[in-house]
Amino acid sequence: MSGVKKGIILAGGAGNRLYPLTLVASKQLQPVYDKPMIYYPLSTVMRAGVQDILIISTPLDVPRFQELLGDGSRFGIRLSYKVQEEPKGIAQAFLIASDFIGNDNVCLILGDNIFYGKMGLTQIFSGFNGGAKIFGYPVNDPERYGVVEFDQTGRVIGIEEKPKKPKSRFAVPGLYLYDGHVVDIARKMKPSSRGELEITDVNLEYLKRQMLRVEKLERGIAWLDTGTHMSLLEASHFIGTLEARQGVKIACLEEVAYRKGYIDKKQMKAIVSVTPDSSYNDYLRKILNDGVCCEGC
Ligand code: G1P
Repeated sequence: MSGVKKGIILAGGAGNRLYPLTLVASKQLQPVYDKPMIYYPLSTVMRAGVQDILIISTPLDVPRFQELLGDGSRFGIRLSYKVQEEPKGIAQAFLIASDFIGNDNVCLILGDNIFYGKMGLTQIFSGFNGGAKIFGYPVNDPERYGVVEFDQTGRVIGIEEKPKKPKSRFAVPGLYLYDGHVVDIARKMKPSSRGELEITDVNLEYLKRQMLRVEKLERGIAWLDTGTHMSLLEASHFIGTLEARQGVKIACLEEVAYRKGYIDKKQMKAIVSVTPDSSYNDYLRKILNDGVCCEGC
């Protein structure tokens, strides 16, 4: 089957680096300017055309995400939830999600990854027809990420997880597309030296099978990190600056749902009538009254 219609958001992890912020709410519930962090990756997959989404988080945090987002019906999507008992690596998500995935294609997005800009995701998702697709994004500090190695002709020949001496500046962002084989691949994997099922090992297996494609992201796209207090602040500044300048909201889930046609005008009106008086609701009302011109604007 071609196209990716299912998505997983992994919002687990101990969040120790953001202590004490993460004592009472997970990292992915922290504010990025005017919204909880998870709104951003959720809006990314919704915009890509995915309406069936599984959120995986810790036993303590799953109820909090449920309270925040519910069953997704108010955004015209289907949200389900599963617990990751212990943070045993990103690839463990495919074991937890095996029933959800079945044999279908699926995307995985990390709950702390923020993307901004025209990535052509709708086309990438609808045109996906097997194997694996990941992205490469040039950064100043590749040693903090999975890093892609290219040969002289630009062909991908390797990926290393947090290498001391990175072989390129291209980090692998936390957005991955896989076919249904990913579950079997994850089942056969062994934990790494840090005791985790590494997403990089999944990608290496697809590379070995010659079924991995890496798409380089252009410089007009922002991929933001939120792993430290400073990068969290910088992400907030980035979003706040754009929103104030352009009078738009980034990752407003109701707006995305409305523009994508997941909810209609009547549903949008109903949302506006129950949303507390706030700048957020003023914005929703504006979207409702201005009408929808096109998806990109
Ligand atoms: C994880 C992955 C890494 C990827 C990064 C993207 O790193 O292991 O390959 O580049 O997410 O955010 P972690 O967040 O576990 O340090």
